Amino acid sequence: MNDLTPTREQREAALEGMGCKRKRVEDIRFTQGKGNYVDDLKLPGMLHGDFVRSPHAHARVKSINGDEALKVPGVLAVITAETLKTVNLAWMPTLAGDVQMVLADGKVLFQNQEVAFVVATDRYAADDGINKVVVEYEPLPPLIDPFKAMDADAPVLREDLAGKTTGAHGPRKHHNHVFEWTVGDKDLTDAAFKKADVTIKELISYHRVHPSPLETCQCVCSFDKIRGELTIWGTFQAPHVIRTVVSLIAKLPEQKIHVISPDIGGGFGNKVGAYPGYICAAVASIVTGKPVKWVEDRIENLTATSFARDYHMTTEIASTKEGKVTGLRVHVLADHGAFDACADPSKWPAGFFNIVTGSYDFPTAHLSVDGIYTNKAPGGVAYRCSFRVTEAAYCIERGMDILAQKLKMDPAELRLKNFVKAEQFPYHSALGWEYDSGDYHTAMKKMMETVKYTELRKEQAAQREAFKRGETREIMGIGVSFFTEIVGAGPSKNCDILGIAMFDSCEIRMHPTGAGIARVGSKSQGQGHETTWAQIIATEIGIPADNIMVEEGDTDTAPYGLGTYGSRSTPVAGAAIAMAARKIKAKAQMIAAYKLEVHEDDLEWDIDGFRVKGLPEKSITMKDLCWAAYNSVPPGMEPGLEAVSYYDPPNMTYPFGAYLCVMNIDVDTGVYKIRRFYALDDCGTRINPMIIEGQVHGGLTEAFAIAMGQEIRYDPEGNVVTGSFMDFFMPTAVETPHWETDFTVTPSPHHPIGAKGVGESPNVGGVPAFSNAVNDAFSFLGSTHIQMPHDFWRNWQAAKNLGVFAA
Ligand code: CDP
Repeated sequence: MNDLTPTREQREAALEGMGCKRKRVEDIRFTQGKGNYVDDLKLPGMLHGDFVRSPHAHARVKSINGDEALKVPGVLAVITAETLKTVNLAWMPTLAGDVQMVLADGKVLFQNQEVAFVVATDRYAADDGINKVVVEYEPLPPLIDPFKAMDADAPVLREDLAGKTTGAHGPRKHHNHVFEWTVGDKDLTDAAFKKADVTIKELISYHRVHPSPLETCQCVCSFDKIRGELTIWGTFQAPHVIRTVVSLIAKLPEQKIHVISPDIGGGFGNKVGAYPGYICAAVASIVTGKPVKWVEDRIENLTATSFARDYHMTTEIASTKEGKVTGLRVHVLADHGAFDACADPSKWPAGFFNIVTGSYDFPTAHLSVDGIYTNKAPGGVAYRCSFRVTEAAYCIERGMDILAQKLKMDPAELRLKNFVKAEQFPYHSALGWEYDSGDYHTAMKKMMETVKYTELRKEQAAQREAFKRGETREIMGIGVSFFTEIVGAGPSKNCDILGIAMFDSCEIRMHPTGAGIARVGSKSQGQGHETTWAQIIATEIGIPADNIMVEEGDTDTAPYGLGTYGSRSTPVAGAAIAMAARKIKAKAQMIAAYKLEVHEDDLEWDIDGFRVKGLPEKSITMKDLCWAAYNSVPPGMEPGLEAVSYYDPPNMTYPFGAYLCVMNIDVDTGVYKIRRFYALDDCGTRINPMIIEGQVHGGLTEAFAIAMGQEIRYDPEGNVVTGSFMDFFMPTAVETPHWETDFTVTPSPHHPIGAKGVGESPNVGGVPAFSNAVNDAFSFLGSTHIQMPHDFWRNWQAAKNLGVFAA
């Protein structure tokens, strides 16, 4: 070895593999405005579609007249449900086993529902056209309050379901009932409550919010009549699923459909499902023979595409007087809006809400969920969370704080007392999950030491005394949250979408010069897959990440995958990438043995190539093996170096974290100050610490927005009163607090590289940390639970209701 021979550290660093803070390669184009989004696509002769939407939340549609619209220069067609009926597309299936009107068929069921689709030569003409379509409505009584949905005299919303006593998920109890889902042992849980020293019961609501990605939902559909082929460019988080759904509902052969997701400006669950815009643009293209573009505006996105949450959770915990939990009972009233369009794996009508036992060793639990219809937009998507896990984490984390308050115990101490212990993993929860790995005590203690928890509590006690003495009008809250996520849907034994098992895939093709391309079934919407997927391959096969191009989103080239949402990419696609890379390495090892004239078993891996055991100078790099794969493979071996892997995970992964929020609230104005926010995440093996930090910052910002103000709110008539960014809280850098991030590493035992997902965790853990801080601040004034969102106005109202102005 001379001075110029790179050291092991230098060779490793040159790969920029796992653990490296590699800069995001996709940012080179994003930061220069060179991304390629759907709306950047301009095809010759392209037409534009726009929707006539309902001003009413519930009304009968008596007539639709498009004659005047067709006189508008540039308007070519007005498509209604009647038009769609001729091609059997007036209704479409939802991912949750329900059906949904594509265009209003006899009735409208929520404000801004799609009523007619106007096709024109440009967007402005289409917009002029929609204003000329005359729709005659007969308003019907709206049903907005979910708690009144199953009253005997509640209006009938879904006339198409009249007389149907069974839905996709079993019996229906009422004309506005979607499903009932129960899990757990009711008798054992009831018995635990009978025996309990202490119980709590509280209605904990998680309000309706919306993922509101920067780029709205959009598509361009282009039907080639000669070839009989339909190409769809769209903002799809799961392009292969869209191809299959289009094939099934449009009765087009799947090989004749090309779905391409170009760059996507944020998804957060909003771009998983199918929307009427996609169907209408496709039909319009088939009818006109021209490409048709549909691009939502912001109000349409907020009011008509998939919402999230809207869960009303009656939560009961039973405990001993020492604070050992003995039972959990939760009933959820789930407001699904007008159609059940939840994007959950098929068998899970309430997603993975049965993770609601959280990080705690509950000996028994029982959960029941009633889904109901109301006159609101459909949806129920995993907005930066894994299928209803955010709701579950909020429910249990508020519940534990309420219990701590009743027991007069410190909330952190109560959690430490009830955590699943490190030696209990794999842990079987009372509601049916097998948690793969965790070390909750270590994470919690690290958090408490870092933030100096005991001192914070002392400061709070002093502040409360000062408040009582009238020396300050500020109250101080310390919000503790400890969450367990469940990500990586999922094992084919219990996860599918429309019957397709939720595996994921990767194909790696190495080129002769030691470069390669990896095509993956996931689809980044900003998460940085082009950067991190190459890092996995770099570590696995010893080729620099810079030499690996990552491609996603084209159904003609990528192997079939189930897409990106619910932090499933790293647990599932990430595993497929490692497995495909290992196949490459296995073939390369055979070639290496041939080249070095030894038996394969005499070789060992050494960062970027193979060497002969005991003879380190006899070695060959992976780069050279790529060349050899194309010119000197062993006799009988096929040339080339490529591999594909479809990975069906044996289990979910269970990331976790300990969060803490310190907040002061001025009781006279309701104005809050986030003084400190600390987030410790454990997502197992960390592929790119910088990207993880970015994911945590983004997720915490969304958690802050949701907890502190963001809401899709309806008035009693069903008008959306927060339908634009003027009213819907979208924090900017000005409002967003400073985030402190930290980590522990507890690898997943079943994942090939030990990684768990991380993208959703900060939202899951963040919301309860904020809400617990607000509730903790008010608790010494006698309050038990204040519903989110905790904006200034509601904080002020809470203070007023607690009588702090009386003195
Ligand atoms: O499915 P989605 O990409 O939204 O979520 P994820 O699997 O949590 O990954 C988000 C980003 O964080 C990806 O770029 C991952 O590769 C990265 N990540 C990581 O670097 N290490 C982990 N253990 C988990 C995720």
